[in-house]
Amino acid sequence: MILALMNHKGGVGKTTTAVNLAAALCEGGAHVLLVDLDQQASASLSLGIDREELTPSIAEVLSGSVPMSSIVRKRSDGLHLAPASMGLIQTDLELAQDADPHRLRHALKTLDEPYDFIFLDCPPSITRVTEQALVAATSFLVPVTPQHLALEGLVGCFSAVEEIRERHVLKALPLLGIALTMVDYRIRSTSHIVRELRNKLGEKLFKTEIRVNVTLAEAPRYGKTVFEHSASATGAQAYWDLAAEVAQRATGEAW
Ligand SMILES: Nc1ncnc2c1ncn2[C@@H]1O[C@H](COP(=O)(O)OP(=O)(O)OP(=O)(O)O)[C@@H](O)[C@H]1O
Ligand SMILES: [Mg+2]
Repeated sequence: MILALMNHKGGVGKTTTAVNLAAALCEGGAHVLLVDLDQQASASLSLGIDREELTPSIAEVLSGSVPMSSIVRKRSDGLHLAPASMGLIQTDLELAQDADPHRLRHALKTLDEPYDFIFLDCPPSITRVTEQALVAATSFLVPVTPQHLALEGLVGCFSAVEEIRERHVLKALPLLGIALTMVDYRIRSTSHIVRELRNKLGEKLFKTEIRVNVTLAEAPRYGKTVFEHSASATGAQAYWDLAAEVAQRATGEAW
């Protein structure tokens, strides 16, 4: 399964979800590759890669100058990372000149490692790089924070996905699910918005809610996943529960 984590809205927990969901699935025995597609390189930095060591990155792979296998770092036995770098800004411009949207898809096919999951951490806008991700993906997951206009934002997100798939005459991309992130019940409107989202979205929403949790915000500063930083944190339990739902939806089997 190649899962794109996308939402064109910024700061909704895409990267936190990509990193900790990947880590949770590894804890459960899966072999996971996380591909960082954001020029900010948040996922790569969160996993402890030094800023000076981000290259060669996915930018060079998409530009065609290095093979995909040469950029993959073995973060642990189960968790591998393809880092991003600022080079993606240039790559995005190059991709705008070149109509081939399948570069990432082809690059992933060259990998020999048998991954159970490949996660694509998308940037917070619909760029050419996001387009590459949506063409390569076999399904997508949308993290959303329960705030004012959350539903409207989701509708925009789904139409962007469909527009890209239609433009390239690809079959529809299945939605694996929508994950509520940074849920904060201290904010009075949260309960109302969560209820509204559950009514409107039904089964599309994962049952698990990722609450606001200090450990989740702190772990990236130490280059660690939440499980490495504090496995007993509520944020770790939440991503563990979400991983069980993701694995169930992906494989149809309980985990
Ligand atoms: N559940 C949470 N509790 C507390 N802080 C969180 C939580 N999830 C994410 N954060 C923090 O919120 C900020 C934004 O999260 P994150 O980087 O995962 O979002 P993003 O959607 O990937 O952002 P961008 O659109 O910039 O790529 C980060 O500082 C992160 O540490
Ligand atoms: Mg991000």
